[in-house]
Amino acid sequence: MNFPIKISPSILSADFGNLRYNALEAEKNGGCAIHIDIMDGHYVHNFSFGVNIVPALKKHVGIPIVTHLEIDNPDVFIGDFAHAGSDMIVVQEDTCPHLPYTINSIKKAGVRAGIGINPDRGFEKLAANPEVLLKIDLLIVMAVYPGYGGQPFSPVTVPKIRKACIMREETRASFDIGVDGAVNNDTAPDIVKAGANYLIAGSSVFTADIAASMKKLRSSAAAALAI
Ligand code: DX5
Ligand code: ZN
Repeated sequence: MNFPIKISPSILSADFGNLRYNALEAEKNGGCAIHIDIMDGHYVHNFSFGVNIVPALKKHVGIPIVTHLEIDNPDVFIGDFAHAGSDMIVVQEDTCPHLPYTINSIKKAGVRAGIGINPDRGFEKLAANPEVLLKIDLLIVMAVYPGYGGQPFSPVTVPKIRKACIMREETRASFDIGVDGAVNNDTAPDIVKAGANYLIAGSSVFTADIAASMKKLRSSAAAALAI
């Protein structure tokens, strides 16, 4: 199966005073989806946006809205985020005591589903619930611990991407493999060479020149694959 490179700008690093403009720039320059990190000050030591951010941005952009729930008890909020217009809901695997139940609730709400795996977590829960892999659209290998933009790239990421590719092949699943955190011109080549195709990028994209930054990120990823 061919998995084309996709770039999803993460608005955590956008200019919050100009969110609409920043989101539109991301769309105009080929962003596949707007990535919104939802933080509760509990699962992560930070707050970001509430549910209302979803309709606020959705009325301006045409690309899908992905809400990345970096919160405890995501099950409680799936209905709210689905109703608000999320096109995909990503949960962190370690916040889901019963992952199949959570993924089923997302799908039942008519929304695409994704799973994020932290740097210190393995794929055991996924391996134990292979049916989940056939239902999700995106598996995110977190290259940083959730909470902040601009953190360094964890060295565990590349081998984990390779493992995720093997798991996808063995289960005949078709989800995108994504990386979230520290995706930039230096890390993107190794990320895509290892087999990930879905790049979630915050601080490397929301610079003073969003168009140029997205172009550069796309070409560093594409160049690595062309070699
Ligand atoms: C971290 C978030 C990321 C964040 C990435 O909690 O999940 O989406 O925006 O930021 P950068 O790309 O700056 O590492
Ligand atoms: Zn994220």
